[in-house]
Amino acid sequence: MKTLVVATGNPGKLKEMQAYLADSNWELTLKPADLDVEETGETFVENACLKASEVAKATEKWAIADDSGLAVDALNGAPGVYSARYGKTDEERIGRLLRELGDTTNRQAQFICVIAVANPQGEIVLQSEGMCKGEILYEVRGDGGFGYDPIFYVPQKQLTFAEMSPELKKSISHRGNALSALVPELIKLKG
Ligand code: IMP
Repeated sequence: MKTLVVATGNPGKLKEMQAYLADSNWELTLKPADLDVEETGETFVENACLKASEVAKATEKWAIADDSGLAVDALNGAPGVYSARYGKTDEERIGRLLRELGDTTNRQAQFICVIAVANPQGEIVLQSEGMCKGEILYEVRGDGGFGYDPIFYVPQKQLTFAEMSPELKKSISHRGNALSALVPELIKLKG
């Protein structure tokens, strides 16, 4: 079994990746708790590559990292790479976004996720991007999911991310799309 270090301290992300990679030859492990990589990049690609590369070099193992966030058209792509840092709690982040959007009628937005894989030398060998388009509601709806889920509405499903079952969200979400595109490539890699 080949080992792939997941560059996250979030056990939820590890679990999600494990589910996708269950049939591959990779065994996933969490990065060491004391190894923190600062997200200094200005794009999702830069941050995902930075995290994968730094964790690979520090552990001398293959590493996988993702970076994701919400880009709102009327806010010129904000909060973007700052999605996690837009406020202290989910409630604050959602409140700030709704305040900044105000009554703007253009509610178009997309969730973006970039995943990068680095070899033990820290070189990026795979990259994948997933996207999910939707609209920002005027108020929260639904109580599932996390982050900006209660204000992110997907017209094709007539549901917010927070109203979807985890399976449905996974099948259409930015992270789901990025992961499913990456898996066949990852299985082909010789670790
Ligand atoms: P990351 O862990 O650095 O990728 O941070 C991404 C941030 O974007 C999270 O803290 C959330 O605020 C937001 N985000 C990313 N994906 C989702 C999602 O699927 N639903 C809701 N919020 C998300």
